[in-house]
Amino acid sequence: MDDGNKAVQGESWPAALARRLRAGERIADAQFDQLFTAQTRSVSFRHWTPISVATRAACFLAEGGATEILDVGSGPGKVCLVGALRTGARFTGVEQRQRLVEEAHVAAVELGADRARFVHANLVEFDCSPFDGFYFYNPFQEHIEEDDLWPIDETIQRAPELHRTYVGTVVDALIRAPVGTLVATFHGFGAPMPREYRRLRREQICGGELALWVRGGSSQAPRRRPEGSRPGELHSDEPSAAGPNPNPETKEPSLSGDVEPPLLRSSDGHQG
Ligand SMILES: C[S@@+](CC[C@H](N)C(=O)[O-])C[C@H]1O[C@@H](n2cnc3c(N)ncnc32)[C@H](O)[C@@H]1O
Repeated sequence: MDDGNKAVQGESWPAALARRLRAGERIADAQFDQLFTAQTRSVSFRHWTPISVATRAACFLAEGGATEILDVGSGPGKVCLVGALRTGARFTGVEQRQRLVEEAHVAAVELGADRARFVHANLVEFDCSPFDGFYFYNPFQEHIEEDDLWPIDETIQRAPELHRTYVGTVVDALIRAPVGTLVATFHGFGAPMPREYRRLRREQICGGELALWVRGGSSQAPRRRPEGSRPGELHSDEPSAAGPNPNPETKEPSLSGDVEPPLLRSSDGHQG
């Protein structure tokens, strides 16, 4: 495969890629995307998170203390794959298109990304409660994008009402999430963040805004589970201060990117 992977003797090119990702080396998206089919590669620039953004988002979440991270609408799984190799957190992708789930699964096996898993489901029927970190790359935009020149495919029904339903599902899940839940958004998710969240950091990267949010809360709000406890177990003896990391601004992920900006536009309505 590509010489850029510098495979050592006997090493497959995906294994070389995984080794370089774990080591924090810069990887070109075109190189990483060779893991996927031609159809999936052809819309990568528009619909899938660039590696540099995926790395940064995963590091924000993991360094902030998230251990179970959900990519909502994971596509072929770039964020989960990169995050699982680059951080110590576990990543789950939920995706409605079965062929993308299958591609993500194959890529995880090829890369040896053991902490990445992929579930074929629609968000509306998926249980978000086990997760303490979320990632969104404007996942429902295709429902309100007219005349998209680069659609992912034509296998799903698209409708503005579905956009409203899915965004509403996300808002509900985020409001229900325990205090301390972390959320990374790239180009938002289609609505302003619920007021229960405050922004910890943001930056411009690859033509869009990457932001990290934490759920704050009052004494009535559900609390984040201590590590090791089971999903659904809530504890009231944790401090009520929002966020597990008191000063996330001091933590800098080690990579930055140089890839082309994606074309997916923001529809989040954030005021900045
Ligand atoms: C813009 S792509 C982002 C893919 C991936 N998160 C990334 O950043 O590379 C949005 C993905 O969300 C998926 N999606 C949209 N609505 C969904 C829903 N209700 N349930 C599950 N997946 C959904 C789409 O099929 C698409 O693959």
